[in-house]
Amino acid sequence: MHYKLLTPGPLTTTMTVKKAMLTDQCTWDQDYKEITQEIRRRLLSLAGVSEKEYTTILMQGSGSFGVEAVLSSMITPEDHLLICTNGAYGQRIATMCQRHGIVHTVYKVPENKIPKAEAVQKLLNDYPSISAIAMVHSETTSGILNELDEISALAKANDLLFIVDAMSSFGGIPMDISELKIDFLISSSNKCIQGVPGFSFVIGKKIELEKRKGYAKTLSLDLYDQYQVMEKDGKWRFTSPTHTVLAFLQALKELELEGGIEQRYLRYLTNNHLLQQKMSELGYETFIQNHQGPFITSFLYPKDRPFDFNNFYHHLKHNGFVIYPGKISDHDCFRIGNIGEIYPEDIHRLAEIVEKYSEVAYVS
Ligand SMILES: Cc1ncc(COP(=O)(O)O)c(C=O)c1O
Repeated sequence: MHYKLLTPGPLTTTMTVKKAMLTDQCTWDQDYKEITQEIRRRLLSLAGVSEKEYTTILMQGSGSFGVEAVLSSMITPEDHLLICTNGAYGQRIATMCQRHGIVHTVYKVPENKIPKAEAVQKLLNDYPSISAIAMVHSETTSGILNELDEISALAKANDLLFIVDAMSSFGGIPMDISELKIDFLISSSNKCIQGVPGFSFVIGKKIELEKRKGYAKTLSLDLYDQYQVMEKDGKWRFTSPTHTVLAFLQALKELELEGGIEQRYLRYLTNNHLLQQKMSELGYETFIQNHQGPFITSFLYPKDRPFDFNNFYHHLKHNGFVIYPGKISDHDCFRIGNIGEIYPEDIHRLAEIVEKYSEVAYVS
């Protein structure tokens, strides 16, 4: 049975993306290395940055491997990293820093609020040694979309390294990476580009990469080494996820055919608004009241009727949709993603199925 995944990724991909994986590739082969180079070029063009200023580094593993590669290779012993967090993925950055002995300070806000520039400014005043800021753009824990502009302006004004985990947003929302002075942006193959899982990618500023050569704390996640080897001719240092790479190139071509990031963003936004509207009509409230992002939405368990998440999940799955459990620390929620090969007609169908579930629950 093929399910529609209403999740934050891995997500529903097109048949053509799946079919692109039906070829075996040799990692030493010139054709394959050229595919890697084409992906790297396409990502830069998608990001709207110049090849002179930025580069793309692909890294085996899931999104977390990309984040950890940046932190463990690019933060030097002289650095002090400020981590802005309002969810599990911001917290994961802090955990990575603890593991690697990276000097850091955590600025934590509740999961339904966004980090504010005034508070960041105060922390910069309190800790003059802060030399870098890391934050998550779309905090998938809740679906909140953090604002980058004002914090980026502080990073610029104070000449701080700026690291953005854009895992669940890159490719699905316009953003001006160069203007935001993002030094390292991380995302992965199975999010808004709509590929399958297997690698993460880092869009990084060349000058910052060069400055931080030789600081990596691990071999396999050494971002600089990976960059150097890949830059030569498209070779990955270690075995790469060849089928995922083929699927990703196809996914990039399909993103272009859709009309690029702008059009994809509009589709996601339409899906998301429809989802919220339909769910609200059925009595499901969103956890996020302000700054809800267009990718994934957390819904509170309804209080006015019996609700059992497992039961609900299986009802939806039985009818062809897979959703996600909640991840909010102190509220019972479930999450519905609307990224991937999902269209308004899917949301309408989901709403009909949810409506039937509510009726059953009311009766029982
Ligand atoms: C914002 C964000 N950061 C990091 C990650 C971690 O990615 P992965 O689970 O692919 O390691 C995710 C995963 O959904 C995410 O949404």
